[in-house]
Amino acid sequence: MIIAIDGPAGSGKSTIAKFIAKKLNYSYIDTGAMYRAVAWSADNEGIDLDDENTVGQWTEKLKIEFITDPEGQQIKVNGANATGLLKNEVVGRGAAKVAAQKKVREILVAKQQEIGRSGNVVMDGRDIGTQVFPNAELKIFMDADAEERGKRRYLELKAKNMDVDLENIIAEIKQRDLEDRNRTISPLRPADDAIKIDTTKFTIEEVIDQVMEKIKLKQNS
Ligand code: DC
Repeated sequence: MIIAIDGPAGSGKSTIAKFIAKKLNYSYIDTGAMYRAVAWSADNEGIDLDDENTVGQWTEKLKIEFITDPEGQQIKVNGANATGLLKNEVVGRGAAKVAAQKKVREILVAKQQEIGRSGNVVMDGRDIGTQVFPNAELKIFMDADAEERGKRRYLELKAKNMDVDLENIIAEIKQRDLEDRNRTISPLRPADDAIKIDTTKFTIEEVIDQVMEKIKLKQNS
């Protein structure tokens, strides 16, 4: 089974996707990390992220590997472990920029389809149910109020001892929503056949229960 989990930043999709993948013994693919890997590595290489041609050529050559180990998923970019280096707002802003570029999306979507081809995968992102796997057996679209998503991201970063400001994070989340929802290519939107879950008022455990319920229904159908 391919399980597609889409939604905006901070909707809780990666927490849920990781948990579900572990429970089902499926692979988990965080496609946002792939866009982040492109932005991070291209920037390190001194490439201007607005230069679509050069970013496209760079993406074509880039080697991205996911390694699942008991400590959680690791990501290697051109052989170097980049796991702890991608989840910050500077890389996030770069990722939003390259994610709006046609060539980058073509290359990464093809990679994601290749990874998912053997099945038994939980993939999270923005366009998994609409573009990457339009025939996925189960599609979930998770959303939550921007304020609540900001609060979650704030607590997550704070727990990593990062110096963060809640109002700034909420403003950044709203800005990213605008960019992700309004870009021309593959804008963030639920697939017509996605099950929508608003996680604003639910705990992680409650959302996991809801998703597991949907999976069981699919498995028995
Ligand atoms: O989920 P995230 O914050 O790690 O995603 C980083 C950026 O990549 C975000 O701006 C949206 C973009 N993205 C995308 O366009 N398509 C995906 N499948 C995953 C992420």
